[in-house]
This record gives sequence, C-alpha cells and structure tokens, in this order.
Amino acid sequence: MMDLARQLSLAAGDAFAAQGLDTSLGAMRRSDRPDLADFQCNGAMAAAKQAKANPREIAQPIADALDASELVESATIAGPGFINVKVSAAALAKQAGAIAADERAGAEMVETPRRVMMDFGGWNVAKPMHIGHLRATIIGDSLQRLFRFRGDDVTSDVHLGDWGLQMGLLIVGVSEEQPDLPYFVEGAEGPFPEESPVSMEDLERLYPRYADMMKEFGKDPASGEKVPNPNYRPEMRDLARTATAELQAGRPGYRALWRHFCEVTRVGLERECASLGVTFDLWKGESDAEPFIPEIVEDLKSRGIAELDDGAWIVRVDRESDKKEMPPFLMLNRDGAVGYHTTDLGTILDRKREQDPQLTLYVVDQRQALHFEQVFRAADKASYMPEETLEHIGFGTMNGPDGKPFKTREGGVLKLYDLIGQANAAARARMGGISIDESLSLDEVSDIAHKVAVAAIKFADLSNVRTTNYVFDLEKFIAFEGKTGPYLLYQAVRMKALARRAKSEGVEPGAIVIELPEERALALALDGFEDALAGAYDKRMPHIICDHAYNLAQAFSSFYKAAPILKDGVPDAQRASRLALALAVLKQLELALHLVGIETPERM
Ligand code: ARG
Repeated sequence: MMDLARQLSLAAGDAFAAQGLDTSLGAMRRSDRPDLADFQCNGAMAAAKQAKANPREIAQPIADALDASELVESATIAGPGFINVKVSAAALAKQAGAIAADERAGAEMVETPRRVMMDFGGWNVAKPMHIGHLRATIIGDSLQRLFRFRGDDVTSDVHLGDWGLQMGLLIVGVSEEQPDLPYFVEGAEGPFPEESPVSMEDLERLYPRYADMMKEFGKDPASGEKVPNPNYRPEMRDLARTATAELQAGRPGYRALWRHFCEVTRVGLERECASLGVTFDLWKGESDAEPFIPEIVEDLKSRGIAELDDGAWIVRVDRESDKKEMPPFLMLNRDGAVGYHTTDLGTILDRKREQDPQLTLYVVDQRQALHFEQVFRAADKASYMPEETLEHIGFGTMNGPDGKPFKTREGGVLKLYDLIGQANAAARARMGGISIDESLSLDEVSDIAHKVAVAAIKFADLSNVRTTNYVFDLEKFIAFEGKTGPYLLYQAVRMKALARRAKSEGVEPGAIVIELPEERALALALDGFEDALAGAYDKRMPHIICDHAYNLAQAFSSFYKAAPILKDGVPDAQRASRLALALAVLKQLELALHLVGIETPERM
C-alpha cells in the first residue's frame, strides 16, 4: 500500500503534467512545519528556475488541481512558491483503515530484493566482550531485522576474532598452568581429549593475566604515570608469536586445543545472544579466511597488484583525491605473517564464492573506519568485490559519566551478562511501583523484567544517531517515562489491556472516522511508518524507527485522553472506529519495536 505522501505525489505529478511539466516535480513530503501543513511540495520552484517564470504562478494551477482532489482538504501557496497541503479527514480515515487491515501495518517491500551480507558482533575468542561489541550486536541485529522485513535476502555472520596473537598467548598460558596435557607433546598427532581442559572462566582469567605479561610498562593507579610493569616477562611476546605461528601452520595439538577455546567461547556467546534475542546465520570466524590466503597472496603478487616494500608485501590504495593520508593495505608483514587486513580480504573472497552478496554491511566501531577503507579499496583493486557494495556502518562509543568509554566501577570492561543483570534488577525495582496487573505470577514477573531490561538497553542504544557517542545511565534508560524502551512497552501493554477488555465486552472494531484533532494527528502518525522505515533502511539508521515508535506512542497517549473508547455513553460507531484506530496503532508499534529487537510482553 502507498503512504499519503506517495498518493499526493502522484496527484501533484499529474497536475504538473497537465501543465506540460515533468511529473517528478510533484514529489510531496511530510511538512517541516506540521503546524502549517501536513505535506509540502517544492516542485514549482524548481520548475520556475528552468522556465525562468514566477514560481507562484506555476504553483497556482497545481494547488487548484490538488484542492479538487478527494485526498486534500486545502492546498495553499506559501512564501516563494511552496505548495502546502492539508489532507482530508476522509483520506486519513481511509489510510488508517488500510493500515488497520494490512498485516505489515502500512510498510512496503523493496522493489528489487538484494543478497545482503551483514557482518556484526565481531567478538573475540577469550578476550572479554566490550561495549563496542555490544553496540555492534544491537545495531547489527536491528539492521538485519529491518533489511529482512523489507524483503532482502540477508545472511548474518558473527565473524569471530579467533585467529590472532591472543590464541597463541592462551596456548602458552594453558601450557604453563597444565603442562602435562597431551596437546603440548612435541610431534603428537592425536587423537586428543573430547572434553575441553578449560572453561570460559579459565579463558577470561588467563587472557588478561597473560596479556599483561607482554606489557613492559603499566600505569601507576594513583598518579597515572608510566611505571615498569612488575608482571612483565620479556620472552612472553615471542612465546605467543611462536605458538600462534605453529597453530596457524597446523600443529595438531595446538589446533585441537584452539578448537576447545573457540567452542567454549561460542557456547557462552550463544547464551548471551539468546538472552538478547539476537541470532546469526553463520558463526564463522577470521580463521575461515585462512584457506583463501595463499591464493590471494599468489594472485596479487602475480598480477602486480601487491608490491614489495621494505620487506613487506603491500597494496597501495591511496588516491589523488584523498584529503587525509591513506596508508597501504598490508598483505604480508616482514615476517611473512598475515594480519587483520588480509583475513578480511580472505573473508570477502569466501563470501563472494559462497553467498555472492550484492551488498555487505560491516557494523563495527567507528574507530576501525580506516581499516575498512583500506580493505574495501584493496578488494576493488583486486576485482574481488566492487567497493560500492562494501559499507562500513560505524558507530560511536557508549561512555561513562567521565566521557570515556564505559567501564565498570572496578575499572573493568562491562560484561553483557552483568549489564543485563543490572538492568533486570533495576526493572524489577521500577515495576514494583507501576505494575498494571496485580495477578502476575513470579515467572511472569521475571519474564517481564527481562523484556523491560532488554528494551531499556536496546532502545537507549538505538534511539541515538548511530554515529554519535552517548552516556550510559541505567536509571534514565530504565525509567517508565520519557523517551525510553520501558515507556514504549508500557504504552503497548496499555493498548493490549484495552484490546483484551474490548474483546471480553464484545466490542468489535469498525470503520474508522476521523473527527477529533487527536484522531487526525494519530492517523497521520500511523501513515508515517513507511517513510520512517525507508529512511532507516536507506541511511542504515535505526534511530529513525525509534523516533517513529515514540511519536506514535505519544500521539496515542493524547488520543486516548481525548477519545474515550470503552467508557459508558460513547456511541457504538464512534467506539468501533476508535477501537480500530487503537488496534492499528498497537500492531504498528509492536512491529516497529520488533524491528529494533524489542519484544512486548502481554502484561506488566
Ligand atoms: N573482532 C574485531 C574486533 O574486536 C571486529 C571484527 C569486525 N568485522 C570484520 N570483518 N573485521 O575489533
């Protein structure tokens, strides 16, 4: 179904055509000044420029034609030649009725669906997950939901960091703690034990401990000054490097141990994802790029795309038009080892052969912008994948009250598990005072608290413009008033309670009639869904959906105050119309929330 902007654009386009002008001049959009008009068209100004005529004179017959349309209550010319349109109550009623009957609540599908690859999550095996990973997960999941909903064929891949120096470091750590394990016997071919010798907790403990041993200097906690690190072990970096190289070269014992690390991490991550309601189609990792590396190295060398530079093999990716310095893509370092650049290029080749995506989105921290620019240019130069189909979807950081990336009170990185736990506790505390429903069982309360917690975290994240930083403030996120996830859930639950009561009283929804200004505003808000989804999709900006959901909930709130539904004395037809409007809002609000990964409880 078409939104009102498109219907009006067609009508205005016809009017332009009748004047011998281009139909595209009729494009109408939602007005910047909702107090003056619902929609506006700026085409007369563009036409006047071409024809060197007076724009108001060009606008007049268009406004007259629109005025005569059933869609329009009034069309007026403002300023230098804007055409302002107020839509008719009949058009709004018809539109709201169509949305009420549409299972997509007014949202369209893309005309040509694409195969889209989404790379997000990006956690690293054993290294603790940080706020950047949390944001990547939440934003990436919202985009995967949106793209799928609009009809694209989406494949999501978590792209685990499972192939770097940290793997060798962990092998060293385990070999020192449990030196008698069979994995470390020189020349051992296996088979090796099925059971992992380490748990997730072991890995989380080992990694920071051994990573610390590679650092020569630390910071004095009191003065912040650089001081020698008492745990420093000068040989550690080389030990880790050697183990990494042996792992990558295929030493069976190391491979077997490494598989345990990956498996143990994956089980933990899958649990966290399940609690966040996030899914991935593929659980691949950087290591999956490995089989493609020899081929890439050979290919880029033989075609002269890579060149030898001071012992390293690089691909030059700078361009004359560059405003900032663009260092080369590093294919092989001086030791002949591959790093993050080359694994990402290998992954591109893997995906090209497996899924052949027409678009790939990398939802990764803004701080990796340069990395992706280099990789995309190299992929293009190598003709593996056109640069225009590769997009880095960067985002800002979540900061603590000090304005720096968020840390826990103890100064550590916040674990997702703890974050959800904190939000859960806060949600329960809030619900005590606000619950609509007194008859909830304990199980229901914990289910609802979890939904409220997830809604709070996700909405707080997604309602910000993706590229900006924001400050972590759980009290604010969890509040039931203001622009928060819990507020929106609360509104949706009120609507559900209304729907249940109407049903039990035998009240049926009926034909929608728009009478009150609050009904008008609500119908217009409903009609804005498609525009919001299209904007969020084109710009890869989920906050546009959040804004829509919030506006809709607010419009509903005003409507519900002004337009009683089940109260005694409301005429039947009016009651049926208002109920139909409320149900349409509920359907659209739930859908909008679902697209940002938020599920609505039945009661709360
Ligand atoms: N594991 C990386 C990190 O923690 C993020 C991976 C992002 N995806 C990619 N294809 N490079 O920084």
